[in-house]
Amino acid sequence: FQPKLLQGKRVVVTAGPTFEPIDPVRGITNLSSGKMGFALARAAADCGADVRLIAGPTALETPWGVVREDVQTAQQMYELALSAASGADVFIAVAAVADWRVAHVSPGKIKKTGDGLPPALEFVENPDILATVAHLPEPPFCVGFAAETDDLDNNAAAKRVRKNVPLLIGNLGPDAFGREDNEVVLYDEHGVTRLPRADKTALARELIAVIAGRLPRGLFN
Ligand code: C5P
Repeated sequence: FQPKLLQGKRVVVTAGPTFEPIDPVRGITNLSSGKMGFALARAAADCGADVRLIAGPTALETPWGVVREDVQTAQQMYELALSAASGADVFIAVAAVADWRVAHVSPGKIKKTGDGLPPALEFVENPDILATVAHLPEPPFCVGFAAETDDLDNNAAAKRVRKNVPLLIGNLGPDAFGREDNEVVLYDEHGVTRLPRADKTALARELIAVIAGRLPRGLFN
């Protein structure tokens, strides 16, 4: 562990789920505790980085030394992430962003009709935050995560190319959510690296060291 590994570097992390309202009392969301993203934000701050953590709804405490901004929807996360990413050195997208939002949010609570017919909800696709940042003219070093239920290797490798990110981290198994530990696979332009199952704090430190090793070197580092 090196406390000055990311000294002077600006790191942006998205974490947690997003929440897309249907009406004032209901919404759709994704499974995500935020633990992996918060652990990465903390590990980057421990290595001396200036860290901005853009978090969807979670029950977690802000890691020491990290600047945290809370959002609810994918659209809010997109706007904050894009402004934070300009000039950043590293962008780590860990958030489980809802792929769709409800097209017309009802201003009042939707009532049951009595005829047994459920409401018909229309969905629109949310912007892909990571792909947008990674396609900027001068993007930060971008890292994505992938949680797949099937064929992780092929899906993750394809996702890495489609989103234009140098490094994509695959979660092994859908049971990564909410756990204290995780098992991940790294996909980059050289291929596949499997890391042993580890506590999320230890894993975050290891991943931050991998990311730091991939950053362009300046005059003094
Ligand atoms: O396409 P998929 O959702 O599986 O990709 C997961 C990766 O992309 C994660 O790093 C996630 O944070 C990011 N993502 C995003 N914006 C979205 C969807 C996913 O930044 N709208």
